[in-house]
Amino acid sequence: METPNVLINKLTLEEKAQLLCGVAPMHTFAVERLGIPSINFSDGPHGVRKMAESGDSLSGISNSLPTTCFPPAATSACSFNPDNLYKMGKALGEECKYYDINLLLGPAINIQKNPLCGRNFEYFSEDPKLAGDLGIELVKGVQSQGVGTSLKHFACNSNEDFRMDGESVVDERALREIYLRSFERVVSYAKPTTLMCAYNKLNGAFCSENKWLLTDVLRDDWGFDGLVMSDWGAVKDRDKGVEAGLDLEMPGSIYHNVQIIIDAVKDNTLSIDKVDKAVLNLLKLIERTRIDKIKDCDFDDHDELSMNIALDSAVLLKNQDDILPLDKTRKYLVIGDFFKTMRYQGSGSSLINAHKLTSPEDAFNARGIKYDFARGYKVSEINQNINCEDDAIKKAKDADIILYFGGQSDYVESEGFDRSNMKLSDNQLLLIQKLIQLKKKIVFVMFGGSPVELPFENDMSAILNMLLPGQAGGEACARLLFGESNPCGKLAQTWPINYSDVINNESYASGPIQLYKESIFVGYRYYNTFNVPVRYSFGYGLSYSNFWYSNLIVKTDNQKITLSFEVENRSNMSGKEVCQVYVSGPKSNVYKPLQELRAYKKVYIEGKEKINVSLDVSLNDLRYYDIEQHKWLLESGLYIFKVGKSSENIKLKQILNIFSDDKPSESLNDYSSYFSTKANIESITDEQFKVMVNYKEEEIVKSKDKYTFETPLKDLNSFFGKRIYGLATRLGQKEYKNACKLEDGPQKEAKKKSAIFLLRIIPDNSLRSLCYSAGGKLKYEVAQALLALANGHIFKAIKWLCAKPKK
Ligand code: BGC
Repeated sequence: METPNVLINKLTLEEKAQLLCGVAPMHTFAVERLGIPSINFSDGPHGVRKMAESGDSLSGISNSLPTTCFPPAATSACSFNPDNLYKMGKALGEECKYYDINLLLGPAINIQKNPLCGRNFEYFSEDPKLAGDLGIELVKGVQSQGVGTSLKHFACNSNEDFRMDGESVVDERALREIYLRSFERVVSYAKPTTLMCAYNKLNGAFCSENKWLLTDVLRDDWGFDGLVMSDWGAVKDRDKGVEAGLDLEMPGSIYHNVQIIIDAVKDNTLSIDKVDKAVLNLLKLIERTRIDKIKDCDFDDHDELSMNIALDSAVLLKNQDDILPLDKTRKYLVIGDFFKTMRYQGSGSSLINAHKLTSPEDAFNARGIKYDFARGYKVSEINQNINCEDDAIKKAKDADIILYFGGQSDYVESEGFDRSNMKLSDNQLLLIQKLIQLKKKIVFVMFGGSPVELPFENDMSAILNMLLPGQAGGEACARLLFGESNPCGKLAQTWPINYSDVINNESYASGPIQLYKESIFVGYRYYNTFNVPVRYSFGYGLSYSNFWYSNLIVKTDNQKITLSFEVENRSNMSGKEVCQVYVSGPKSNVYKPLQELRAYKKVYIEGKEKINVSLDVSLNDLRYYDIEQHKWLLESGLYIFKVGKSSENIKLKQILNIFSDDKPSESLNDYSSYFSTKANIESITDEQFKVMVNYKEEEIVKSKDKYTFETPLKDLNSFFGKRIYGLATRLGQKEYKNACKLEDGPQKEAKKKSAIFLLRIIPDNSLRSLCYSAGGKLKYEVAQALLALANGHIFKAIKWLCAKPKK
């Protein structure tokens, strides 16, 4: 291929417009006459979903070739170990090369704003530093193989309900310090080849046509020089998108949108320079992601890596009287379907067809552990199953120690919809209550991608949270339970006691417009600042060893502060500890959280050994974003540097006076009273917040028709509208029925999950998003005919149907 600068002068306008529109399901457009190849994409983020050619982003996600299913982000984040992500990225890059994939769609680094977000499992953390660091290493790992990445979903994509028409309204400090911060870090330190814009609107404009986001911040402030692609079906007005900085539409195959670009250039409403810039970004991407396909890939090695990451990430939440590790020679009663049908990944576009699977059952059997088993509940149901339950209770009466395998299933937690509450499903809650009445020792081995309420916590002897451990999770689980390995994961998301403890819990995903009224007080920043008790704090996790901290020395130079201290393992068992540094900024009129994670390090310490740990905090990381001056500023004053085992278990601290020439803007004070107490933050009204953000609701362009191309399908209430919605829903139902006919096994489960995902996302889709994400399967003309029908215009519908479909 010739260089981008040469090619740009040889391409016709039509070819340029076509290049900016992808080819479904996962390719870019090729211009053969100029030797411009098509490149291939694949999901991401924690495995390579090598998709069948016939699939599209709405169906067929379960049709993929076998690859390694690594632990999803919510799990690997708990390792607090960026090195894991580099290794995972490198392995993913190799698998991409094996399957001839030029670019992996990941990492996903959105902030886990609320525990109910259905997609939390795909995101790292509630903390932007941790999410950013891990994202950096994943990108570096994948790109070390010459394979591209796509940092997603840019930005503020924190709820799944109202997925296609939702809007996030966020103040600039929260944007800069929390929601954009993780993206900024990855863009600056890892230079991802691409970035994927989110479905939602942000402060008035769809992310896919948000110039402030895609150009002013991303390119002008951060210097991003890669390509911006849309999420699948996230494009609204294609010409506005190009104007705002959206280079590539995915999955594409919508000639209508190619034509829009051509017409806009001809009408002078879109400059050819903008089109050329976008095309150049695509051509450079093709150059940057040239790969040499490899013939062999060491899937066994990747399985081992996946297991090690699961081991490094699992979090021991409780261990009363050191009941764990278990004695291998004793006999146990194992209860719970997850023992055999382990939940190891989440559902939706990231669903991997695992190359190999090791369940806890496999791992127990491989060790010759003696156990009796009772199902207790069925993973494929949420209601009580009396037969399974009775069998479990009967067996439990004679048991000494019960190993209960449970947690959240894909029926309550998945991409495409948010959880409706933070509880375990009824079938498990009722069973656990009955087991507790037997007064036996219960070890809860838990699976799931986000926090659940644990009203029975006091009655458990131990809780081992495996999260979603990836394909080798069963092996990791057995190693931890039987003490072959020592737990060392720490929570990357706070576990509230009840959902009602979460800030703005009632308004979360209650309508399409989401006001992020808690501003920067997200996760532990909220709980710590306003003394809200939690079940398990951010950074919390136990070990079979005991670690003691001592002798903190804080030194400073111009750019950084260095903290040195000692950590001693006072047990006989070697183990790993995550040393965490939280910093409290000076008391001033600039509102701020009590403390923020500024550094951390995972260290390995032999039994009875004492080591020196040294950690750097960059002065830049102590800045806050001043929205008046549009700058990161460092306040002068007393900073408290704290070293701890978690955000709530601080072991050492020291105060340091820092001087700076920066002058905070006075205007910030206007809002500091909103965030001064828990009562104040809870009573910010919608109107007050909208004024603070300077948010104006988009004016609805009056149309003589009731329904527009944007109306969610669930709102099409006319005679034909209801039928159109019914038709779309039947697509999902048909997939579900077909899946149910399959033989029991992983294939059936995968198909069922993808059908549920489909069923749940259809209501929030509009005819526009359905058409633009279907990769040509729903022709633009047909979608317009359906819209005309929904509005009762039968002749118009016939006219659209008779219209010659554009290419
Ligand atoms: C998801 C993306 C994914 C894309 C392609 C979308 O629905 O939001 O994360 O990469 O589909 O499968």
